[in-house]
Amino acid sequence: MKIGIGNDHAAVVMKNEIAAYLEELGYEVADYGTDSETSCSYAEYGEKVARAVAAKDVDLGILICGTGVGISLAANKVKGIRAAVCSEPCTARLSRQHNNANVLAFGARIIGIETAKEIVKAWLDAEFEGGRHQTRVDMIMAIEER
Ligand code: RB5
Repeated sequence: MKIGIGNDHAAVVMKNEIAAYLEELGYEVADYGTDSETSCSYAEYGEKVARAVAAKDVDLGILICGTGVGISLAANKVKGIRAAVCSEPCTARLSRQHNNANVLAFGARIIGIETAKEIVKAWLDAEFEGGRHQTRVDMIMAIEER
């Protein structure tokens, strides 16, 4: 499985640690940047990863900025994307099981690296449950058509 990863200047160190962790877990990683700690816009990297997920260039996306909020808002503007900001593993797991989130976001200024790894593992280990959750996800995606 291939994971697209992206971040702004606030999350370069955490991005590198999470990319290495993903490889340790056996995932292929596509890094969409940034690798610079010079101030930039999370919108650019959120959009890049979201477009890669939407185009199926990667299977899932992981986005990191200072809070996880800005970069997830940008990703959610791309058709087909369901980006979830998570600060602990339970929400991350449920965002896959119930919401079929295809992008995970978190904040390098909000959580530490060990929590970030737990979130990533919980998210990737979980599977969408379908059923009544599919109906609700379909309703969310129908909003894009109106
Ligand atoms: C950058 O300073 C910061 O605003 C950004 O990383 C993020 O937290 C925005 O949501």
